[in-house]
Amino acid sequence: MNAYRQVILLNEISKLATKQAQWEPYAWYKDMRDRNPVYYDAEQDVWNVFSYDHVKRVLFDHELFSNKKERSLIPTPIQLDNRSNVNLVDPPEHRKRRALLTQAFTPRSLKEWEPRIQEIVDELITNMEGAPVIDIVQKLAIPLPVTVIADLLGVPSRARGQIKAWSDILFLPYNKKAYTDIEQQKGRAMKEFAEFLYPIVLEKRKHPADDIISDLTQAELEGEKLTDEEVVRSAIGLLGAGNETTTTLISNIFYCMLFDQPGVYQELRADLSLVPKLIEEVLRFRFGATIDRKVAQDTNVFGPEMKAGQVVVAWIGAANRDESHFTRADVFDIHRPGNQQHMTFGAGPHFCLGAPLARLEANMALASFVRRFPDIQQTDGFNLDEHLTASATGQSLKSLTIGTA
Ligand code: HEM
Repeated sequence: MNAYRQVILLNEISKLATKQAQWEPYAWYKDMRDRNPVYYDAEQDVWNVFSYDHVKRVLFDHELFSNKKERSLIPTPIQLDNRSNVNLVDPPEHRKRRALLTQAFTPRSLKEWEPRIQEIVDELITNMEGAPVIDIVQKLAIPLPVTVIADLLGVPSRARGQIKAWSDILFLPYNKKAYTDIEQQKGRAMKEFAEFLYPIVLEKRKHPADDIISDLTQAELEGEKLTDEEVVRSAIGLLGAGNETTTTLISNIFYCMLFDQPGVYQELRADLSLVPKLIEEVLRFRFGATIDRKVAQDTNVFGPEMKAGQVVVAWIGAANRDESHFTRADVFDIHRPGNQQHMTFGAGPHFCLGAPLARLEANMALASFVRRFPDIQQTDGFNLDEHLTASATGQSLKSLTIGTA
């Protein structure tokens, strides 16, 4: 199978052609849930499911829908598969690998990191004060997650500009036209990223400190320590997983407050305990996520006959707007009961390990911002198209100007 055939091109399935259509795929999601809930894309040999129950089944049922994938939405050029990779493996093997990382990400371990995260948030917010217009993506949503994850891993945070640039490239979505160029960019980024991390891993193996890379150098899998190469790859995986996703969440929080429900900011000002509810609703309402699996055995659980080896894409963003699970699903409502039942962090055995960290960062960032700024407004002449960029989730915000006067 050549490399090109390994990539699943989502925009070729949705046929959403413009940036704005990809940013607002919700009408298409609804149409698919209503008319084509189990849709076969013959061109790419890919099944697609859109309803809450179907998506949940794909994520939970690892015997039918496996993570041992040959094709993927975001394949990396140098295979990240290795003994410590948690993504490309099913239970029971998955459990052993995941155990290497779970310790670092429990809410209790995160408690210890809270003061440091608050310090980073405070510094970023202090730097914004006094400016009548702020680009919230560049000033908060991008620097916060990359600084936090660099700190947690024990990588110097002064390198965050470079780390962000590498992880942006690794998460670039493929498209038909620029396939070879994107492939080459990813290969270069992966090589440079690994070369940057390698000496850090060697140093930490010799002199372990209080950080995740040090923990990984000491961790054992079936009685054997991870190799330097495996630790490097795990660190790249974590930096990648925790970065762009959390940036998207923080950017989308501000977009929802400005455009989806403009009055909500004052509600938060009056009652900061609503901050976590708003964050859960943003995760449900505005996150065009997708997860792919390989069909492990012939099955007709969803009606049509799916063949072993085919791919199934679970459209999380569509499930999160499914009326049969969330009433008035297309309304942004922070008071909605059960909005945390969204599947933006996945579900089942591969449920996001970093969800407590992402929630913590978003909560601290939003609560601190709301305390400092009396109000926010849309800026004059805001043209959404100019602020969008292609990303793993379809389109995401590369900038978002907000008025704070
Ligand atoms: C808003 C932010 C985030 C979102 C939306 C998100 C989303 C997801 C999703 C959907 C999965 C499941 C993938 C699958 O089933 O194939 C996942 C897995 C994972 N996430 Fe996150 N994530 C976020 C933040 C983070 C952070 C901050 C970290 C840590 C640094 C992280 C680390 C991981 C890891 C290690 C896995 C793999 C777990 C496994 O396969 O067992 N994520 N994430």
